[in-house]
Amino acid sequence: MKKLYIKTYGCQMNVYDSARMADLLAPLGYVPVEAADDADLVILNTCHIREKATEKVYSELGRLKRLKQRRVEAGSPMLVAVAGCVAQAEGAEIVARQPAVDMVVGPQSYHRLPEMIARIARGAGHALETDFPAEDKFDHLPEEHTAPGPAAFLTIQEGCDKFCTFCVVPYTRGAEFSRPVAQIEDEARRLVAKGVSELTLLGQNVNAYRGEGPDGAKWGLARLIRGLARIHGVKRLRYTTSHPRDMDGELIQAHGDVETLMPHLHLPVQSGSDHVLKAMNRGHTRDDYLRIVERIRAARSDIALSSDFIVGFPGEMDADFEATMDLVREAGYAQAFSFKYSARPGTPAAAARQIPDEIKHERLQALQALLSEQQHAFNLATEGRVVPVLFEKRGRDPGQAVGRSPYLQAVNVDGAAGMIGELRPVKIAQVLVNSLKGVLAETHVPAPQRTLAL
Ligand code: SAH
Ligand code: SF4
Ligand code: F3S
Repeated sequence: MKKLYIKTYGCQMNVYDSARMADLLAPLGYVPVEAADDADLVILNTCHIREKATEKVYSELGRLKRLKQRRVEAGSPMLVAVAGCVAQAEGAEIVARQPAVDMVVGPQSYHRLPEMIARIARGAGHALETDFPAEDKFDHLPEEHTAPGPAAFLTIQEGCDKFCTFCVVPYTRGAEFSRPVAQIEDEARRLVAKGVSELTLLGQNVNAYRGEGPDGAKWGLARLIRGLARIHGVKRLRYTTSHPRDMDGELIQAHGDVETLMPHLHLPVQSGSDHVLKAMNRGHTRDDYLRIVERIRAARSDIALSSDFIVGFPGEMDADFEATMDLVREAGYAQAFSFKYSARPGTPAAAARQIPDEIKHERLQALQALLSEQQHAFNLATEGRVVPVLFEKRGRDPGQAVGRSPYLQAVNVDGAAGMIGELRPVKIAQVLVNSLKGVLAETHVPAPQRTLAL
């Protein structure tokens, strides 16, 4: 038996990939552990999206170098691998900067890990694999060994062809690729057999999904969702991340009539200013976005809307930022992520004149204050209601379990520790600043509740 420690940074796609790497290495005798200290193989599954994310990886590598030295002195060597988006973006440079690294493997090549480990065992030195495309990887992934829990991720699409001028993803993940429908449905069935009842379909541009269907036609995301909803045991479906440009009528319609499709949508807008959206190469205007939101609300009035925002993009003037604040007020969010623009090497916007950090900081503070106010208001609107909650794990207090509402709110419920994996009616009893408290409700939850006043 060998010990494997994987540390995951970045988005949900990395979480999915980390689980697949553990599956791939299980037949080689690797068993996952919770800390790097006595691991025989450490994998950092990295993120390159902002400068801070990348820097975190190098400081972790510094710690691992010292750990590795101690292990070598004690006669029990340790292998260090860098996987994910930093691996793809920086390749051999990583080894140059930190020679303690044995393997560098990009997000579309990790199915080669077993062979890379064998190469190192033969004394062939460092191993580097950063090939595209994703197709090859999905054909070589093993069946899932790791216990997924009640809610699992399922990657259906990878890569991006959109080339927003701030973003590294098209370079780190490569071109858009959609997995065939049959492969996805098989994986969904296996997950259900392992006790999963909620699936979150993943893709960098998940709603650009166009996979080959069993009928030979290309299926869009809406059709895939309708197919998955028919699989017995799939009780909840979600998907992320969507691009406004690919939010088509069929998908909007699915929110209106597929009961298992949860009323939550992460639809990043980035900015509320047309001038900035254009410079970002987003391919949609402020008005396009607001009209999509309107149509989704017409299909499903209680949808919990979420977004990503970037402040301080090159050329963003006070008026542009005000337009973003204004869009937030108009759209109304249940939850959101917001970031200061970070110049990424090789992306077009990195070469433009940059906005001073103090301005970015001020804008971020103002935006985050507004977004948390909205999040709190959304949560308050659910107070007193009974909603179905899927219990995912134990909570902090004894006897407590944490689950998700249909709106993706995390709800802490006392006396539910024995109900992990179950979907139960819960009354949202108390809205705190950072969490919700619920109590088990006896009443049966009437299926869709679509009258949330926002
Ligand atoms: N595919 C998704 C986003 C993936 S990256 C989409 O199209 O929306 C996740 C988020 O990170 C982005 O939505 C964006 O808000 C943020 N992000 C990406 N590049 C960034 C950069 N250079 N600086 C700051 N934030 C960035
Ligand atoms: Fe990045 Fe834009 Fe692609 Fe999203 S759509 S991954 S932000 S390039
Ligand atoms: Fe980061 Fe790569 Fe995901 S850059 S956000 S890990 S696609």
